[in-house]
Amino acid sequence: MLTVWIAVAIGVLIEGALIVTIVRFRRRRGEPVGAPVGRHGSTPIEILWTAIPALVLVFLGILVVPLIFETAAAAPPNAVKVRVIGHQWWWEFRYMQGNKVLFTTANELHLPNGRAADFSITSADVIHSFWIPTMFGKRDAIPNHSNDIWFTPKNPDPNATVSYPGQCAEFCGPAHSLMYLNAVVEPEAAYDAWVRHQESKAAPVVASALVRRGEQVVTQGSCAGCHTIDGTAAAGQVGPNLTHIGSRANLSGPQLAANTPANLARWIHNSSDFKPGSHMPPQNLSKSDLAAAVAYLESLK
Ligand code: CUA
Repeated sequence: MLTVWIAVAIGVLIEGALIVTIVRFRRRRGEPVGAPVGRHGSTPIEILWTAIPALVLVFLGILVVPLIFETAAAAPPNAVKVRVIGHQWWWEFRYMQGNKVLFTTANELHLPNGRAADFSITSADVIHSFWIPTMFGKRDAIPNHSNDIWFTPKNPDPNATVSYPGQCAEFCGPAHSLMYLNAVVEPEAAYDAWVRHQESKAAPVVASALVRRGEQVVTQGSCAGCHTIDGTAAAGQVGPNLTHIGSRANLSGPQLAANTPANLARWIHNSSDFKPGSHMPPQNLSKSDLAAAVAYLESLK
């Protein structure tokens, strides 16, 4: 907000000076038509309009640089540790205990209210930027390099559950502007329950014939080449982990597609409808296989 107000002040000054100049120095009746006489080589003006922006940047730098080091330093020991991996065009979140991966999820992040969250950020392909605007500054996701940031999410009401939208903030290809994430900040007890649930293996809630058929389609078909569903034969590492996909509110952040059977069917049929250039190729499943796959995936709560 400080940056915004400084920019507003500069904008008002410059636009004001422009308007005054236009009015005061306009061509008056009877004056000759032609280019006005230019003013060149004023050293004081040159120094002034070089020095002022430089001072503004130095001032903002003094405020921001210590914060960058502070948020990249060691987090409190009880912090939730998440490995963030940017992919074209989705986010992978690995919840960690030391070097051990507890579970992996995609695009949807859960964090306990009031406890520090410690992110170590990298990328699987090109440079992305991890950003939840209402919570903290941007931090780049760079291949073969780890960037760290930690902060403490706080809801206005500690008993509430609040979703904060996030967005990739570094141009990374055709679907860059659609590379959303959703950070759910909730009370500690709700977070603990979520963690226990995520750590469990995939278990279809309704084991109907349709769901069982869908399990076959997904875990023994081409889906399994790219996606992991813990506890099944699907162990692909390229795409999002789908172990509990049915429990996610959105397919890719709240802005793009709510997790409804109709959206999921469209997504499987041709994910480029949602994300142009998506690396997931269109799946030519028969109508009945598609319905079965959707029923199975939505049952993975
Ligand atoms: Cu990822 Cu922009």
